Amino acid sequence: HVAVCDAACSVLPLAWLLGAGFIKSPLSQKRLTQDSVELYCEAIGTPIPEIQWWFEGNEPNETYAQLWDGARQDRVRINATYNLHSTSTISITNLTSDDSGMYECRASNDPDRNHLSKSPKVKWIRSQANVFVIERPDIKAQVTGVSGKLVLACNMTGQYLPIQGHEWMHGDKILQTDADASAFTSYTIEGKIEEHSGVYECVYKTNPVIKGHLNISVPPQVMVYKKSEHGNEGDTGVLICKCNSFPPVTSWVWYKHGQEVSPIINGSGRYIIKSSGNKTELRILKLNIEEDSGDYHCNATNAYGQGSATVSLRVRSRLAALWPFLGIVAEVLVLVTIIFIYEKRRKPDEVLDGKSNATNHKDKNVRQRNAN
Ligand SMILES: *[C@@H]1O[C@H](CO)[C@@H](O)[C@H](O)[C@H]1NC(C)=O
Ligand SMILES: *[C@@H]1O[C@H](CO)[C@@H](O)[C@H](O)[C@H]1NC(C)=O
Ligand SMILES: *[C@@H]1O[C@H](CO)[C@@H](O)[C@H](O)[C@H]1NC(C)=O
Ligand SMILES: *[C@@H]1O[C@H](CO)[C@@H](O)[C@H](O)[C@H]1NC(C)=O
Ligand SMILES: *[C@@H]1O[C@H](CO)[C@@H](O)[C@H](O)[C@H]1NC(C)=O
Ligand SMILES: *[C@@H]1O[C@H](CO)[C@@H](O)[C@H](O)[C@H]1NC(C)=O
Ligand SMILES: *[C@@H]1O[C@H](CO)[C@@H](O)[C@H](O)[C@H]1NC(C)=O
Ligand SMILES: *[C@@H]1O[C@H](CO)[C@@H](O)[C@H](O)[C@H]1NC(C)=O
Repeated sequence: HVAVCDAACSVLPLAWLLGAGFIKSPLSQKRLTQDSVELYCEAIGTPIPEIQWWFEGNEPNETYAQLWDGARQDRVRINATYNLHSTSTISITNLTSDDSGMYECRASNDPDRNHLSKSPKVKWIRSQANVFVIERPDIKAQVTGVSGKLVLACNMTGQYLPIQGHEWMHGDKILQTDADASAFTSYTIEGKIEEHSGVYECVYKTNPVIKGHLNISVPPQVMVYKKSEHGNEGDTGVLICKCNSFPPVTSWVWYKHGQEVSPIINGSGRYIIKSSGNKTELRILKLNIEEDSGDYHCNATNAYGQGSATVSLRVRSRLAALWPFLGIVAEVLVLVTIIFIYEKRRKPDEVLDGKSNATNHKDKNVRQRNAN
């Protein structure tokens, strides 16, 4: 619809002269208490029409009342834009059952539209949507450990909507799904609890969808990025620890092995520490063989306890990095020397041979001459 207007509006602005028209109407929706709802309305016309929102509750004595930005203890927000056409979004947060009712989007561009005594020539046009707010059912969520296994269970109590099935989720991952209509659903985790920490959800396939939350919380499960790090003397050493368990780490502390009494302080000496929720990085500037080689511990703390890991740092001498190169240089030098010496020893012999031949030749000539 929008595309049609965008093309048509610019070409034929006269087509809507005075008359306002909707190009998007609000849609009826079902929501649970404490949820939020958004209704959207879009109108065109020349001049650009004004959009208002009105409400009529379900009680028989209720009358239409206009809604404004900040109404209902600030739970109502209205965001309107008037640019080529008019758009307006009304959003209501933390819904209660009193918010159930009919919501009306009204649009008009008649200059007399808000005049108190004159009735406008062109009436407000209206578009309505119903919002149903359903009491949120209570979900009892429970985690129990049974013989090394972890059972997550959700039980929906009180009055509830028809259930078309369940889903168990961990983040974005769907772990289990079924089409049962029961109010009770469970999911079993096999293996170590530590490896399965996180936020889990049981999802009831109802309209609207109802979810229960369960947390599996463990002390930090710290891992190293690399068990041992190597650095050259004078370079910067980087040691990294990670922790992806739940809940996130609240504080990271680094210790050098043998100096556990005092943690490494960020900014002191040649140390720089950078920590975020699930990662910490210790940088040691200008590595020194004697002072910096050794084991380092990263200790993590969260509300459920502590965890740590160890990284060992080996600092090599600058020369160590040069050894292979120096080896090759030495090898070349030895070869060159050998060749040089060999050449030196061979050359004089050849020269001597040449001379002796020459003398022999001369001798011959002499002898021949003598013979003549
Ligand atoms: C409508 O009547 C109910 C009681 O039946 C009352 O609580 C409510 O305030 C009334 N609403 C209006 C708008 O008069
Ligand atoms: C109002 O709506 C416009 C366009 O839809 C959006 O860019 C803007 O962020 C909204 N403002 C608020 C306060 O929500
Ligand atoms: C939502 O409304 C209830 C009362 O209806 C109130 O107790 C609760 O604090 C509100 N929650 C938020 C996030 O405003
Ligand atoms: C679910 O909750 C209801 C009401 O509290 C209880 O009667 C029922 O036994 C529970 N179901 C299970 C499987 O625990
Ligand atoms: C689960 O963890 C979240 C934080 O990610 C917290 O907001 C919520 O209250 C926790 N729920 C329970 C039942 O502990
Ligand atoms: C350590 O200090 C640097 C700046 O000196 C800062 O950027 C960094 O956030 C600090 N790290 C921690 C864990 O406080
Ligand atoms: C945790 O680490 C992952 C990468 O491994 C990252 O994408 C994510 O944003 C981190 N979460 C927090 C809370 O720092
Ligand atoms: C750091 O972790 C190690 C290994 O788990 C532990 O022995 C040490 O006590 C911890 N240090 C502190 C200060 O908690």
